[in-house]
Amino acid sequence: MIRIAKLAGTSGMALVVSLLVPVAGEAQTRSSTPTFSKDVLPILQQSCQKCHRPGSNAPMSLLTYQDVRPWVRAIKTRVAERQMPPWHIDRSIGEYLDDPSLSDKDIQTIVSWIDGGAPQGNPADAPAPLKFTAVDEWVFGEPDLIVRMEKGFTIPATGPDFTPSEVVDPGITEDRYVKWVQIIPDAHCCVHHSHVYVAAPDDAEVEDLSLGVGSNTDNEVDLIEYAAGNDADIFAEGTAKIIKAGSKFRFSPHYHPYGEAVHDRQRVGIKFYPKGYKPEYVVTSHRIRTDVGNQWALNREKVEDVILRAGHQIDINEPTMPTGALVAENPLHSATMLSIPPNTVAKHERFWPLPQPALIMSFQPHMHFLGTRMTLEAIHPDGRRETLTDATNYEQNWQITYSYKTPHLFPAGTILHTTSWHDNTTNNRHNPDPTNWRGWGSRTMDEMGHGWTDIAFLTEEQYRRELTKRNAQKKAPTNTQNQQP
Ligand code: HEC
Repeated sequence: MIRIAKLAGTSGMALVVSLLVPVAGEAQTRSSTPTFSKDVLPILQQSCQKCHRPGSNAPMSLLTYQDVRPWVRAIKTRVAERQMPPWHIDRSIGEYLDDPSLSDKDIQTIVSWIDGGAPQGNPADAPAPLKFTAVDEWVFGEPDLIVRMEKGFTIPATGPDFTPSEVVDPGITEDRYVKWVQIIPDAHCCVHHSHVYVAAPDDAEVEDLSLGVGSNTDNEVDLIEYAAGNDADIFAEGTAKIIKAGSKFRFSPHYHPYGEAVHDRQRVGIKFYPKGYKPEYVVTSHRIRTDVGNQWALNREKVEDVILRAGHQIDINEPTMPTGALVAENPLHSATMLSIPPNTVAKHERFWPLPQPALIMSFQPHMHFLGTRMTLEAIHPDGRRETLTDATNYEQNWQITYSYKTPHLFPAGTILHTTSWHDNTTNNRHNPDPTNWRGWGSRTMDEMGHGWTDIAFLTEEQYRRELTKRNAQKKAPTNTQNQQP
């Protein structure tokens, strides 16, 4: 909270803005210690139980007092250090859907409850238990279509992570729009994360969605990603993902052996909008990678650094990258994407001008063990810079999607700028060997640096309409925080 105080001093009136340190929180002004039933359970319901319940991949259930009591010491540490719930961004920037993070006051309540002996209090004070769908059930009701891996994969008890693929024909004979989609694995223990990609048939008329950002290659677009704490995507009314007739699904799981051999045959369930329905906005997922891409000029520093220094003669004033300059076979390619020298904190960027007006719906940073921080920034056409998300405490074992409460609306030409930091020093406790150079690659021990970003591209007319609507809302005396532009 910000307090603005007026000071009368010799220099006239000065405005002093100071961060208000939580004075005596309510918990302390009350005569008694907070209790589980009255004060703590509502917080656990709001921020923990979605994951900490029987059958999920979290180590223990936190549904009842009996469940919670043996864990209070661990809870105190994890909560006070903001390791739980996992939410690794600077909380002062932006507003998000389903934000489970704790306020300072929540943390204070939990800590003083534990310091005060963790009493249960009066069970009659407890809120009604939440109702959860089981981890192997559909969250939003019955899907219209369920597509399952035909063979699936056996994950051994021990061994390295692996990332296989299985292609399945979902039998979709006409273009359909997706209202919601969910993945259910059999082996909750061992799925680090998992994608379902949709490949349209070669003869389908599809927009080129690769857009030079390293996403959606070969007509293949991302339908959904499953990751701890994130298994179902529902699209706001009028917004959808599209699946073209004749498309094939490719399951692309990342498995992590966990002490016991298990077999996994994942299912993906889809609810469609009714046949014939046309949504206003179609959402596509883009992987904004650290790279040079075909936007030379914007990435000039990097091009000069990596390519020109390596002795390649290229004209940096060319508007687009010459074909073949950075094809995958070229060893320089992965170096332009990511080059992390030993004993260094490396910073990589990507500047990507939006080819059309757009609504930016979400951001999901993705790096591996060396990744420590990633930001998404918008550079407006007038040069103004705006941080949309700053994942200050990135942790690679969590793939968290940060969905904006109000999607950001930007005109064409706005530059989306991602920056990723990889800590290849001994300060990084996840770093097995700081004397190694690291580059881009899909193995766990290689690195990545991209933000998955869900975007709905707009026509100029849709943009103007959306802008007018938002400006009108801005004038209304409602909460206009975080409205763009
Ligand atoms: C998105 C899912 C998710 C949410 C939300 C979540 N947790 Fe966790 N939690 C996990 C998983 C998975 C682990 C095991 C991995 C780890 O230790 O990081 C874990 C680990 C823990 C541990 C460590 C247990 C041990 O073995 O020592 C504690 C304590 C904990 N969580 C408490 C909480 C509390 C309290 C909340 C809410 C304020 C919460 N968690 C919210 C998924 C979650």
